[in-house]
Amino acid sequence: MYRTELIHEAILARKKAYCPYSHFAVGAALLGENGKVYHGCNVENASYGAGNCAERTAVYSAIAQGERKFTAIAVVGGYEAHPLPFETYAFPCGVCRQVLWELGGPNLHIIVAKSEDDYQEYKLSELLPKAFGDQMK
Ligand code: THU
Repeated sequence: MYRTELIHEAILARKKAYCPYSHFAVGAALLGENGKVYHGCNVENASYGAGNCAERTAVYSAIAQGERKFTAIAVVGGYEAHPLPFETYAFPCGVCRQVLWELGGPNLHIIVAKSEDDYQEYKLSELLPKAFGDQMK
């Protein structure tokens, strides 16, 4: 089942998180329409505002590799030292929702998981209703 596999990829992506300031490690796995999976992790910075979330890292990496159409993204997050399952579902922040809207559109599936078999799934339009963007096209 693609959801379980995508969550597994997000867990692998999370291992690459660079989060020495928050110690909160996030992993994302973004599924391109032809089945390729793109990893993202959070990348923090001593100048805190320069950090980047896992979801945006995944989107920007995929775009830089030539992908343009996306089906789903799985996201996992939890404190570095905490073992699986994660304590909470890691929902994409507002800025990431906006970026996912731009490149994934309203039907992108968002899977937030505590483990491979404990997850919730939403369409992006549920998490970002009345989004800004289509006015500009
Ligand atoms: N973070 C993400 O990677 N994705 C989100 O959607 C929310 C927050 C990261 C940013 C920061 O490195 C850490 O989690 C704590 O906020």
